[in-house]
Amino acid sequence: MSFTIAIDGPAAAGKGTISKAVAAEFGFAHLDTGLLYRAVGAKVLAGTEAVQAAQNLQSEDFGDADLRTTKVAEAASKVAAIPAVRSALLDFQIEFAARDGGAVLDGRDIGTVICPNADVKLFVTASAEVRADRRFKELTAKGDQTDFQKVLAAVIARDERDAARDVAPMVAAADAITLDTSDMSIENAVAQAISAIRAKYIPS
Ligand code: DC
Repeated sequence: MSFTIAIDGPAAAGKGTISKAVAAEFGFAHLDTGLLYRAVGAKVLAGTEAVQAAQNLQSEDFGDADLRTTKVAEAASKVAAIPAVRSALLDFQIEFAARDGGAVLDGRDIGTVICPNADVKLFVTASAEVRADRRFKELTAKGDQTDFQKVLAAVIARDERDAARDVAPMVAAADAITLDTSDMSIENAVAQAISAIRAKYIPS
């Protein structure tokens, strides 16, 4: 049985947390597709050419804690606008989505390009200020010295680049359910996502 859940949305909207919770609830596998682009971005920062990096990704490229930094996120967003980088990462994502036992993929183009026939599509969003505030708290909790305005500017710049690119831009699929988490607790957002999926999922 394959059952695919596509979860898209901008940075720090809560899609990672929701995806993990949904995968655990239904016993599905989870792929954070942002990590693929982050791994390519990190390789580019280390001197590798972008398409070369995308074509030669290995599983050990995903374990690095540095992939979560703002610098790598920005590099990821830049390489993600290169069509040949996206096509090098396509087959892996499509195969993952079709795996037996169900799959949750989160990213920017899952419901539109990777899995246009996904069984459930969610678009998880929140205001730029709320998302920047969440990211700011995460960063300061880790001991990073930064200020809110800087984080907000980075969030907005990344959104604009991800939404404006020609290939597979970030956009809600026409048949996606939008979940605005600006005024929601994470528990509430997860509960809403799970109930939207339950309405469509009949375990065999
Ligand atoms: O989800 P994230 O913040 O880890 O993603 C990092 C960047 O990767 C994001 O700014 C754009 C790119 N990305 C993408 O273009 N398509 C995806 N499916 C996932 C991420």
